[in-house]
Amino acid sequence: MTAAKKHKGRVFSGARPTGRQHLGNYLGAIKNYVALQDLYEEAIYCIVDIHALTTVETTQNLKQNTYEMALDWLAAGLSPEKSMIFVQSHIPEVVELSTFFSMVTPLGKLTDLPTFKEKIRQQPHNINFGLVGYPVLMAADIALYKAVAVPVGIDQAPHIEFTREVVRSFNYRYQTKVLVEPQMKATQIPKVMGIDGENKMSKSLDNHIELAATPEETQQRVMQMVTDPQRARRSDPGNPDVCNVFTMHKIFSSDGDVQMIDTECRQAGIGCVDCKKLFANNLNTHLEPFRTRRAEFNQNPDQVWEVLVDGGQRARTIAKQTIAEVKEAIGLP
Ligand code: TRP
Repeated sequence: MTAAKKHKGRVFSGARPTGRQHLGNYLGAIKNYVALQDLYEEAIYCIVDIHALTTVETTQNLKQNTYEMALDWLAAGLSPEKSMIFVQSHIPEVVELSTFFSMVTPLGKLTDLPTFKEKIRQQPHNINFGLVGYPVLMAADIALYKAVAVPVGIDQAPHIEFTREVVRSFNYRYQTKVLVEPQMKATQIPKVMGIDGENKMSKSLDNHIELAATPEETQQRVMQMVTDPQRARRSDPGNPDVCNVFTMHKIFSSDGDVQMIDTECRQAGIGCVDCKKLFANNLNTHLEPFRTRRAEFNQNPDQVWEVLVDGGQRARTIAKQTIAEVKEAIGLP
């Protein structure tokens, strides 16, 4: 794509360092990141390690998780030439902007957010100040780079709406136009279910399939996948429309395979075991180039960290500029 055809402005997204990424992360986020780096003038992707501190009990895996996630991003096609890829805590300016934002944020707006209420349910023993302020820091992530577009899952919609409000409040309070209201770019995919067929795929529920798993591990996980619960016996006809394996086939298998399963499952022509074996094979074929690239990057960890440092330096140039404008707008001495 030529530069002239690109959308104006920057795309920004962030993700908490959760270590090795799974199919849900890939389909829900990474795939979109990769596509958007060619569609915008600039793309910025951030590993939000400070945000991770609001929920993690221990930081002992934080570095390793950051590294593993960066490896997956790079192997999946995020390019250091096309994108700035960096670690949130390398840019101290984000904390400054977050503090300035906190002064134009009514506390009730934060405690009313559905995402906050969910966290209260999940960790009633650890409702820290940072957790309440999570959306403020996220708004700072986005506004610091004056991003126009933010690719996220639909669950993040309240946070993006909050970001837009904070930016408006800030600009209004200080009678300025320095900050930019971003647009949400919701990922257009069906919710990726875990191998339990019941819950969203997630590492914490251990119902996930890692991109970097070996072909054998992948096959094992796939064989555990829950299929159409109504289909108790091999001789029962199945219903692909309610089967998570079929959903995955539609994403990773050829049209021919999808057609064949659609027909054969309904007339008990193919059983769940064979259907899953076919899916495991197709998935492994699909992931093979990814795994090769990942292994290559993993030969040289220093180079991966260098990508993050370099991305951080470029991002910080933008951040410093924005903070200077913000301070000027506020009227700080
Ligand atoms: N809250 C996001 C999530 O849990 C992560 C995040 C932090 C983010 N800062 C961001 C996403 C800025 C987009 C833009 O998925």
